[in-house]
Amino acid sequence: MFHPDLALPVACSIAELRDRVSEWRRMNLRIGLVPTMGALHEGHLALVKQALESCDRVLASIFVNPAQFAPDEDFDAYPRTLESDTEKLTTAHAHLVYVPNHREMYPEGFVTTVSMAGPALGLESETRPHFFTGVATVISKLLIQVMPDLAVFGEKDYQQLMVIRQLARDLDLPVEVAAGRTVRETDGLALSSRNVYLSAEERTRAAKLNVILKEFADALHQGAPVAEAQAQARHQAEQTFDHVDYIVVRDAEMLNPLPSGPLKCEARVLAAIKLGKTRLIDNMAAPKA
Ligand code: PAF
Repeated sequence: MFHPDLALPVACSIAELRDRVSEWRRMNLRIGLVPTMGALHEGHLALVKQALESCDRVLASIFVNPAQFAPDEDFDAYPRTLESDTEKLTTAHAHLVYVPNHREMYPEGFVTTVSMAGPALGLESETRPHFFTGVATVISKLLIQVMPDLAVFGEKDYQQLMVIRQLARDLDLPVEVAAGRTVRETDGLALSSRNVYLSAEERTRAAKLNVILKEFADALHQGAPVAEAQAQARHQAEQTFDHVDYIVVRDAEMLNPLPSGPLKCEARVLAAIKLGKTRLIDNMAAPKA
């Protein structure tokens, strides 16, 4: 049943979702999907807005996907704010929120996973080896359940975006995967549901991630050799943050490491760092000179 007390219709099962989506299909409407784990912020709402620009109907899914969390990660603590998320989606003019239930997503006896190489290798997978299998599996399920014409993912999770593009290509999923621009606070910190974990002191330091990445990208654009610019960025990050998982430049599509000399292709600088217990990621384009 759709929840009558909420302004926005909520589908809580695959059957409810399909009822609604097939009605839209019969009307020949273009459908956009914004997959999320909830704890929505302006970054997510910008993705909804972007989907609305080319779609007649836009739905957001909210599912904190256990398969992409390791046992020592923040699955239990991950913020769950369904009521305010639904209000925000209503204000953003979404047409439906899909809140899959866990038993239907991962029923007893569920054994299928989607595992990937290519852009899924390295970076996030170094410290979170389970992550992209969890993401690729849940996104495959969501895309098959909804069959949207368009799905929008934030560029803040750049490796995830590249992984999902590859997934859609490899599995012939008939969906356009669009990139949503990273939304930032005025001091440059990329919006993230995990920013709420930062203490006031950590929040101040967190803004330096954007500055360091920008200087890194600028140095590369001005012709600095990859090896030198990368070492310099790592040094700065280590001075600033409590831990640096990676701060690297990679080719912009497959995320392969690059030769040590000046950039010869479109590239991306990417970083994952820790402030206290909070892990933050960010990235930006590093256009060749
Ligand atoms: O980026 C996220 O919020 C999640 O990884 C996603 C894409 C919704 C899959 O659970």
